[in-house]
Amino acid sequence: ATNGKKFPKSFLWGGATAANQLEGGLHEGNKGMNIADVLPGGKERLAILQSPGFDFQIDESKYYPNHEAIDFYHRYKEDIALFAEMGFKAYRMSIAWTRIFPNGDELEPNEDGLAFYDRVFDELHKYGIEPVVTISHYEMPVNLVKEYGGWRDRQVVTFFERYVNAIFKRYKNKVKYWMTFNEINSGLIMPIMGLGFAIHKEEDRYQPTFQAYHHQFVASSIAVKACHEIIPDAKIGCMILFAPVYSYDSNPENVLYALQEENLFNYFCADVQVRGEYPTFIKRYFKEHNIELDIREGDLELIKKHTVDYIGFSYYMSRTEKVDKEPQDNTQGNIMSGVKNPFLKASDWGWEIDPIGLRISLNKLYGRYQVPLFVVENGLGAYDKVEEDGSINDDYRIDYLREHIKAMAEAIEDGVDLMGYTSWGCIDLVSASTGEFSKRYGFIYVDKHDDGSGTLERKKKKSFYWYKDVISTNGEKL
Ligand code: BG6
Repeated sequence: ATNGKKFPKSFLWGGATAANQLEGGLHEGNKGMNIADVLPGGKERLAILQSPGFDFQIDESKYYPNHEAIDFYHRYKEDIALFAEMGFKAYRMSIAWTRIFPNGDELEPNEDGLAFYDRVFDELHKYGIEPVVTISHYEMPVNLVKEYGGWRDRQVVTFFERYVNAIFKRYKNKVKYWMTFNEINSGLIMPIMGLGFAIHKEEDRYQPTFQAYHHQFVASSIAVKACHEIIPDAKIGCMILFAPVYSYDSNPENVLYALQEENLFNYFCADVQVRGEYPTFIKRYFKEHNIELDIREGDLELIKKHTVDYIGFSYYMSRTEKVDKEPQDNTQGNIMSGVKNPFLKASDWGWEIDPIGLRISLNKLYGRYQVPLFVVENGLGAYDKVEEDGSINDDYRIDYLREHIKAMAEAIEDGVDLMGYTSWGCIDLVSASTGEFSKRYGFIYVDKHDDGSGTLERKKKKSFYWYKDVISTNGEKL
């Protein structure tokens, strides 16, 4: 066992957020509407977004938590000062596409939006915090969803190209770590968040989804190329949702099923973005589902040539599978489901907690790709209680994070090249799947509640002080 002495000096400790989940500032600086802005609060929000006939409009009778979120738009200085107090080396955040191109299809970027992120990056650099920027994190312009059907339309590649060129040129001296599409593989299950369209009939799942993916892969390579040309000293990664798939038992049929699920869900996108080629297993899958991609001349060469520098991934849980699932066996994450693993406990939201699974994931990814890895999301969504004296004693969160950090230290000893760790929701924010504020991930508590009430005051939790020690000892004091 290791006590965590193995973290390299350059290790990027920090936290992660996404624009739509913390900024607020709905119409500030001419921002346009994105899909998170039309998501009401509540557990049904993703189902509403995907329901047939949904018009992507605001319903005045509903509450939309992302509109104000935690008001980072106006409070970023205070929040970044708190990140700095914890000793963050890196802060993973996203740029809201709709601040830069409010409708997505304009020819020129919006200066007010560009200026906002200049202020944020300058504030981070004041404290020596490296911004790690996701270009597209579940916040596609509504106009592109409504008028173009999301990434199904090839024109979106051109709009995205304009967007990345604008931000690379503007921030070339300020941002050296980038990622293209957040959890790109999530669209295999739920395309609305990343690919910008919903599936209403099961038979529509195949052709449109993979055509949209092809467009995203082309766009990803365009972004990698542009990033390397405009910012030669930058690194740009892909970002995948990784949950290792375990077979429920040693029945070879279940083992094979787990392997196939892992190939499709965990490796398909990364294979294209990291190795630069469609993997062989997907060809059979395409054939069996009558998928014929419209691939234009030069696409495959572009994809081959401009592969990512590193793999960023989110890790919250593992997934256990068997062929014959009974409904009562099921367990649920925010995007995936599997069967209950008898060896694991789950969070209050049913996400199975599995630190060893992180070590397994790191070994699997590094073994397959041999490129640097970056854990850009990991954390525990939990209810927190503010005590009479104002303290918040989130030992459950500390335990969760400690075990996952230990797993990373083990993986580094296994030989994995790991760049950093930015835990999810370092400051409490809006949950992506449920829109709740009460599902808290932060080291910093925000006084904001599911009904929209609250002062937005920030408070340090016990985990704040704990994480500060973790960083200052480079992972030795856990
Ligand atoms: C990841 C997303 O899927 O999980 C984040 O990239 C999200 O945007 C995080 O917030 C946690 O999920 P949830 O649903 O608890 O917010």
